[in-house]
Amino acid sequence: MLVGAQLKRPQDGRLAWKLEDSLDELAQLAWTAGVEVVGRTTQQLERIHPATFIGKGKVEELQELRDDLGFNVVIFDDELSPRQQRELEKALGDGVKVLDRTALILDIFARHAHTREGALQVELAQYEYRLPRLTRAWTHLARQAGGAAGRGGIGGVGLRGPGETQLEVDQREIRRRIAHLRRELEEVRTHRRQYRQRRQREAIPVVALVGYTNAGKSTLLNALAGSDVWVEDKLFATLDPTTRRVTLPGGRVVLFTDTVGFIQKLPTMLVAAFRATLEEINEADVLLHVVDITHPNVRQQSHTVGEVLNDLGATSAPIIVALNKIDRLPDPDAVAPLLSEFPNSLAISALKGWGLTELLARVEELLETALVPLTVHIPYREAGLLALFHQRGTVEREEHGPEGTLVQGRLPAALLGRFRPFLLHHGTGKDA
Ligand code: GTP
Repeated sequence: MLVGAQLKRPQDGRLAWKLEDSLDELAQLAWTAGVEVVGRTTQQLERIHPATFIGKGKVEELQELRDDLGFNVVIFDDELSPRQQRELEKALGDGVKVLDRTALILDIFARHAHTREGALQVELAQYEYRLPRLTRAWTHLARQAGGAAGRGGIGGVGLRGPGETQLEVDQREIRRRIAHLRRELEEVRTHRRQYRQRRQREAIPVVALVGYTNAGKSTLLNALAGSDVWVEDKLFATLDPTTRRVTLPGGRVVLFTDTVGFIQKLPTMLVAAFRATLEEINEADVLLHVVDITHPNVRQQSHTVGEVLNDLGATSAPIIVALNKIDRLPDPDAVAPLLSEFPNSLAISALKGWGLTELLARVEELLETALVPLTVHIPYREAGLLALFHQRGTVEREEHGPEGTLVQGRLPAALLGRFRPFLLHHGTGKDA
């Protein structure tokens, strides 16, 4: 049973999703997680109820629906507090589990994490989600259930200390697991950083594919690289970044990297968990935003992607928008007005391979032009940075002084951060 509730007066200015559209998406998430949806109910709220999220009448309606339909899971479209989840489970009685969108996404993520880093990130997020929700009933369930967080056998492990309740033992055990996972993740990330540094030394530009879940990023990566990345008509088929080498028409080699799909109401906790993976986006020279132009909520989806990018601070790299799946449009010309609606966009079909040459040409053009003028003073001890400037940028003036080298030229926006400590000024320097 799906439940969607919306405040009558939305609190922030975000482009609001229609309740029904958001529930359609929740239904697809449920389907992806292997849950059969038997019905849905919605409510317009004056305020969120601290104890039950929805109003009393709605809770009673759910009780009646339970008797009629016999469902055993209720999924809320918004994140519930631990208290709301408990109260609702109490009200709906034995055998009915109350979940929220966050739990559902965590579950899907857990199934789709293929790499070690992905699996560690999800497991960590699951424990962090469960810690404040831990009750005796839950620990009992966790022991029966599978799932990443269940496998640890939390409920039964660990000796009870003097005066400790079983609940406290469980909490202690989860905290210990969380600390352990954090350490393991840190190791994996050190490796990733080393890999990234090597890539930077090789000075290969990076194009990051971003987009709403199911937009067609993996299909596009396959088409561009002739590779066989996992493609599935399910949400979040791609969880771990996949990187492929692609040769541009002019002969330059670039790396295309796929990233986790975005979704509205992406739980903050998950954004945090995936920050390392998403760092790829911040380091990219160009962002390629893949949009499913045939989706009824294409504007909201694209807006959501913009918001997530903003939240991640990925605002410096130039963006190309690929309006994908045009083969599904009844009339391919229908895409024309949309091209002017989405700045810097072009139309493609990743599936049919339409428009890909133009797309690569556009990437090439951007890589050449997206250089930012600046002047830096690089100390001699940072010789690597000087070499990087030469590899990735264009040098217009270079003077060796007593302590370092003054360089005036242009650099890809993505590299600015590394040169920032030595920045004399932005711009061509002519005005300074
Ligand atoms: P996430 O892993 O959820 O982030 O998805 P994704 O953006 O990587 O999407 P993916 O490439 O897995 O594609 C999702 C679905 O859309 C698949 O069923 C693809 O076959 C389909 N698809 C992708 N591109 C096209 C296209 O150009 N035309 C059509 N008709 N379908 C496409």
